[in-house]
Amino acid sequence: MENLDALLSSNKRWAAKIKAGDPTFFERLAEQQSPEYLWIGCSDSRVPATQIVDLEPGEIFVHRNIANTVNLNDDNALAVIQFAVEALQVKHIIVCGHYGCGGVIAADSGLALSGPVDRWLDNVREVRKRHAQELDTLSGADRVTRLCELNVLAQLESVSQIEYVRAARERSPALQLHAWIYDIHDGIIKQLKNL
Ligand code: CO
Repeated sequence: MENLDALLSSNKRWAAKIKAGDPTFFERLAEQQSPEYLWIGCSDSRVPATQIVDLEPGEIFVHRNIANTVNLNDDNALAVIQFAVEALQVKHIIVCGHYGCGGVIAADSGLALSGPVDRWLDNVREVRKRHAQELDTLSGADRVTRLCELNVLAQLESVSQIEYVRAARERSPALQLHAWIYDIHDGIIKQLKNL
């Protein structure tokens, strides 16, 4: 079995470097987390939440899954969102998709996959179907690009329908919702919508 010694050594170097710059960093974080942001993003290895907005551990509460979907019957996502809103009282929920998303490409292709991955993509297929009129006027790469955007917007809409999100949005100061999309070609995030 491979021991992944390289990863464990780099972890030690990383912790030492952080501590050198800020001796009480870990002690403070161990006391409590108080992130202002909930990030709902894709599991894609190229889109690591905290890193691409250059924040530190402790600053973003994160939920990631294939194609950054929010299924209203998915207790995993719902529990993360509930905890973020009620316990952490985050100020912003960001749904961040990315161009070139494999999950979106698969859903757009109409190909049947197998197992949980296939079931998971039904949510994106639904978005594809709902916007068929617009999407069918576009060709290959343009269609996928647009579906990546429409998917983020649809998932943000789902977030906005959750009861405890609505309640938090009525509180003062109100919780804000954001749809973002990340370009894996240049590392830049584009804002699609703020609610
Ligand atoms: Co993706």
